Amino acid sequence: MYFSHITKNPSTSFGTGKKILFFTILFVLLIIGVGFLVVKNNVMVPAKDILSERCNQDDTPYLDQTLPVAKRVDDLMGKMTEWEKIGQMALIEKNSIHDLNEITKYNLGALLSGGGAGPKVETPAAWLSMVNNFQNATQKTCLKIPLLYGIDATHGHANVLGATVFPHSIGLGATRDSDLVRRIAKATADEMVATGIYWSFSPNLDVPQDIRWGKTYETFGSDANNVATLGLAYLQGVQDSSSKYFNALATAKHFIGGGAMEYGTARNKNFKVEEGNITLSDKSLRQTHLLPFQKAVAGGARAVMVGTATWNGVNNTGNHYLLTDVLKKELGFSGFVVSDWYGVYQVSDTRYDSLVHSINAGVDMVMTPFEYKDFMANMQKALASGDISQGRLDDAVRRILTVKFNTGLFDRPEAVSGGLSIIGSAKHRVLAREAVRKSQVLLKNENSALPLSKLSGQIIIAGSAADNLGRQAGGWTTEWQGIDGNYGIVGTTVLEAIKNTVSKNTNVEYSLEGNFSKQEALADVGIAVVGEKPYAEGWGDNANPSLSAEDLAVIEKMKVKSKKLIVIIISGRPLDIKKYVHAWDGVVASWLPGSEASGITDTLFGDYSFVGQLPIDWPL
Ligand code: BGC
Ligand code: BGC
Repeated sequence: MYFSHITKNPSTSFGTGKKILFFTILFVLLIIGVGFLVVKNNVMVPAKDILSERCNQDDTPYLDQTLPVAKRVDDLMGKMTEWEKIGQMALIEKNSIHDLNEITKYNLGALLSGGGAGPKVETPAAWLSMVNNFQNATQKTCLKIPLLYGIDATHGHANVLGATVFPHSIGLGATRDSDLVRRIAKATADEMVATGIYWSFSPNLDVPQDIRWGKTYETFGSDANNVATLGLAYLQGVQDSSSKYFNALATAKHFIGGGAMEYGTARNKNFKVEEGNITLSDKSLRQTHLLPFQKAVAGGARAVMVGTATWNGVNNTGNHYLLTDVLKKELGFSGFVVSDWYGVYQVSDTRYDSLVHSINAGVDMVMTPFEYKDFMANMQKALASGDISQGRLDDAVRRILTVKFNTGLFDRPEAVSGGLSIIGSAKHRVLAREAVRKSQVLLKNENSALPLSKLSGQIIIAGSAADNLGRQAGGWTTEWQGIDGNYGIVGTTVLEAIKNTVSKNTNVEYSLEGNFSKQEALADVGIAVVGEKPYAEGWGDNANPSLSAEDLAVIEKMKVKSKKLIVIIISGRPLDIKKYVHAWDGVVASWLPGSEASGITDTLFGDYSFVGQLPIDWPL
């Protein structure tokens, strides 16, 4: 039939031949194209059929909850291909995943939400379903290894709308109360776990030496012993969050010497201190900066994040002595080392060399955080050439999987929405209020200006932070750099807290800019609530942390309108107020209190006394 058709119509027959030729050429071009892409990315994704044969096994002891973790890890490791092992070492920012199938295809092992990176709507339910969707993608892989999902729940699960926002660590440092810190860390982890996330990038164990550093507020202050004690309490508090099915995981960061970088040495031209160089002898580095990590490791740390600073010119991320000799061997750390944001690419000139160097130094999990294909290709190349040994690969993966099993990820059922009511619960807000109250530091109290009377006739209130939840909460709240205003955070502002505290007969007047011009008589009290605009990390590096001209102008105006002037400073670090403080009657350091400003009024109006002590020097 076919032939007869051809003979009947020779021109068509000739056309068909051409078509065949055309399609053959097209096919060849396509193959070359695909080949080019593979070479370009250099990633060799294993073919599906090979995988499926291997995956149809019923023999999966690693899924047996009754076996000891080490046995489960052995079994799983024995089943894994090199490709799957590499995938377990990747930690990818969730916004780099444009298609859930990529998680399956690349066998990705871990995801994170960078600052502010959540679902489109930031509600707890949307967070939970986002994380569950990511997890479900791993169920389509051969070995179904669950993802470890990490987030900076550093002062509450503060990316989530409605979460309790606790004071930043600098305020907790002022409380010197490890029991309180432990309870806060657990409450935070409980809110995090409710959204299906088990891994927090906290506590921060840096010991800041220079308040010009933008990360100062992420720390417990400059006293290494206080950092070590509170850091351990925080770590254990996170890991206290557990059930039959999971154990939340904390991260001790940033190993090592975060906070000791010299001003002006930052590699990034936008920064001054962050990503800078630490000039210290081995002995001094150990005395001050190793101490908190020693305690954390001895107290159960299972993840340590290596920072992006250089120590005497050598990048921490690529420092074998620090990561392998000191942390893993000397301190006996058996968990995994995770690199910081893009950290493995900052060690030497090419991405390949930099990665190889970092992995060989002791990095186990790589926060790339964007390019997983490039990461996987470089790992394949390094393993093929012997630049990274199979032994190092296996060691890294074994560490990661051991933690995953301990975290319970293989055994837990999918997280369901039943637990969401704990987010921003009344109980957690009471705890946050307690923390705020205990963190208040009385910097000046001339003629017993404080506490104030709840029965004062007239109180005037002004200043940039008086009615601003964003400023109270600081960076790492809703957005990486924080927000400025009353949206995205559920809580009580200082103004509201004062109104809720004073008697019915007290006249409270508020003006953002301190314009109380119509008023004739002096107010009994003027309360100026001033401070810093939110910032995070290197963007908060600041040559001279001080009050803005606007805040100083407001304080001036209030001074002439009130019988006594109280200044409340909402800031992530000490501000330079030396020139002005003599004119103020009472001054309170409130740090970055978070969502519950009623803790400020608890001490301001004398329901509780001031117990906070400076966690870092504040020259007055
Ligand atoms: C910070 C870490 C943080 C990570 C993920 C980095 O820039 O240094 O502290 O955990 O980003 O957001
Ligand atoms: C992310 C943060 C991260 C930072 C590092 C931001 O885009 O949201 O999580 O720490 O980049 O530069």
